[in-house]
Amino acid sequence: MISISDNETYSNLLIFKFKNFEMKYPEYIKSILQFSENTGENKELECINTLGKCRYKNIFVLGIGTTEEFNSVKLFKTLGDAILKLKNSLSELDILPTFPNDFNYTIGESLQIALYKYNGIKKVEKKIKLQNINIISKHKDSINKGLIIGSSINYSRQLVNMPSNYVTPKYIAKQAENIARNENLDIEILDKYMLKQLGMNCICNVGKGSIHNPCLIIMQYFGNPRDKKILSLIGKGVTFDTGGISLKPSKGMEDMISDMAGAASVLCVMKCISKLKPKKNIIALIPVVENMPSGSAYKPGDVIITYSGKTVEVVNTDAEGRLILCDAISYAKELGSTTIIDIATLTGSCANFFGNINIGLLSNSSELAHDIINCGKNVGENFWRLPNNIEYMNELKSDAADIKNTSTKCGAILGGMFLQSFCEDINFAHIDIAGCAYNSKVLSPYDKGANALPTRTLIEYIMKDDR
Ligand code: BES
Ligand code: ZN
Ligand code: ZN
Repeated sequence: MISISDNETYSNLLIFKFKNFEMKYPEYIKSILQFSENTGENKELECINTLGKCRYKNIFVLGIGTTEEFNSVKLFKTLGDAILKLKNSLSELDILPTFPNDFNYTIGESLQIALYKYNGIKKVEKKIKLQNINIISKHKDSINKGLIIGSSINYSRQLVNMPSNYVTPKYIAKQAENIARNENLDIEILDKYMLKQLGMNCICNVGKGSIHNPCLIIMQYFGNPRDKKILSLIGKGVTFDTGGISLKPSKGMEDMISDMAGAASVLCVMKCISKLKPKKNIIALIPVVENMPSGSAYKPGDVIITYSGKTVEVVNTDAEGRLILCDAISYAKELGSTTIIDIATLTGSCANFFGNINIGLLSNSSELAHDIINCGKNVGENFWRLPNNIEYMNELKSDAADIKNTSTKCGAILGGMFLQSFCEDINFAHIDIAGCAYNSKVLSPYDKGANALPTRTLIEYIMKDDR
């Protein structure tokens, strides 16, 4: 439980220390701080046993570097790092933040995110030890906002961490319905039959090898109905990616439970904006399928008539993400979108190239690309723009259809180029989170597993004019 109050509550206290600046603390803390050996170096964490000199048993001093280098990204990472270190050794903690109010939102976000741990599905659940935190502050509103957003981020991480026998297309659709009901958003879920009737043949084909039927979730938030601008966010929702008939090797295939991280990110954005209420119009489109090999599965060599009318030759059934996304893109255009952003664990190539350090970005608009990169910088998520010279499209030429779904080279670029070719003149950005959405090790402030990237960047992008 995280509370916010004026009172000192628990037996441990966490305070912050700059390298070059003395913060104002009450006398009893100052008298203890004289014993501190913390240099204020970023992430330096010291525990002082107060030996009964004040009501706290222990005071933890957390270094946060110099005031010149201080910003919300630093605070987010430093506080999160300390909580990760402490969350299995303490059961209760007071935190005394002494920063300007602008930083309180970040404190709420960072705390929630660092406290999250995926516990698996076990007979006896093992929870983290740190169950009680009290933030000593008068700025309840901004801290609370951060806590709420942080918990939505964790909701998205939980969806990605859970296995695909739980998180089926139907399960994701139910989650979307719950969000829409609780947050008063418009929602429509197109089932397999509706998709077929409409001609969303890519979504139907990718999904047809599985016993779990595909669907397309459409959620709408109109915060400024008089504005003609509509941003569509499209999240790849492959609940499990075996590769289909172009079967993946079995080693590491279990990680493909995270192939719906784009979908989880978009769901999280919708959950957040329904609370933050920006004056923007946003549509979420989430195609959800399970990519399975079976007697009814789609096959290499198949030609599919996409929702746009353009035909696609399936060269590799493992390049399924771009297929379900292209139908959703065409639908987003029909709904009047002026900007389309897709978020997808799209290519192993992007993961190999950037590792988990940079998110791949491909866009037909420099302005949109720069906006996304800058919003990423503001929240500590790195993007790197991929080239999109039109000549790359030669690689996707097909004798059997208008375009083919993959080639042997330029994996991440061609994935994005394929999608861009369905957008034509509309502002478009493709975000490839294949290497970044899921960590096999702790990457503070995130515990291992899913981290909901690039949700915080998307929220920043949506909220940037509303502050
Ligand atoms: N879901 C995978 C991409 C992926 C790989 C995500 C590793 C996370 C970690 C995607 O559907 C895929 O299999 N892509 C293929 C495309 C190829 C056949 C052109 C890939 O990258 O190997
Ligand atoms: Zn995939
Ligand atoms: Zn695949």
